[in-house]
Amino acid sequence: MKSRLLKITKWVLLVGACLLLLAQLKRPAKTNPASDPSLALAAHVQLDPKVAAILDRSCNDCHSNKTRWPWYSNVAPVSWFVIGHVDEARHDLNFSEWGKYRLEDQKAQLGQMCELITEGWMPLSSYTPLHPSAKLSDEDKKVICDWASAARAGCAKGDWYRLRSLLSQTRPRVIRIS
Ligand code: HEC
Repeated sequence: MKSRLLKITKWVLLVGACLLLLAQLKRPAKTNPASDPSLALAAHVQLDPKVAAILDRSCNDCHSNKTRWPWYSNVAPVSWFVIGHVDEARHDLNFSEWGKYRLEDQKAQLGQMCELITEGWMPLSSYTPLHPSAKLSDEDKKVICDWASAARAGCAKGDWYRLRSLLSQTRPRVIRIS
């Protein structure tokens, strides 16, 4: 009886090891695409060093093209989750491509950043155990939220300038009509 159990255990371990080896063959692409510095968040929004440091240690691995890929991102099946998260995070919000977003989307993202960190959704809870320095203190959250609301106000000013320049472009036409 005991030897039969041992045999089954051996087979299970062997099959498991083979599956794990086979899993290594599926390697989704791990990319850090080159990006135009003029599109980066820092080129569009005032980022003081404190804010930049928090975003760098807590968000940039997923929400930028400058991911520091951890060693376990080479080992399937963990790699599938890590790469999937980064792809999804970049698709939703990529600080390296901030300049591509419309002003209203930038404003919405700034609002969501504060909301999601306050509620504890970001950074992802699967990330922090192996990146303890990414955990945000209450002070960090306040720094990000204060910055985000100031940046939103800056975006609103941008809207006003855009509207004013649009109006000034249309004025000559109005004059011609009258
Ligand atoms: C381990 C990867 C990871 C880290 C680190 C991370 N995020 Fe995310 N983030 C994601 C993923 C994945 C999503 C998409 C979640 C979804 O759609 O369900 C997301 C979504 C978001 C969104 C929503 C974007 C949208 O348009 O819906 C915001 C805002 C956000 N994250 C902010 C942050 C901030 C701020 C930080 C740093 C404090 C951070 N995230 C750190 C993975 C991460």
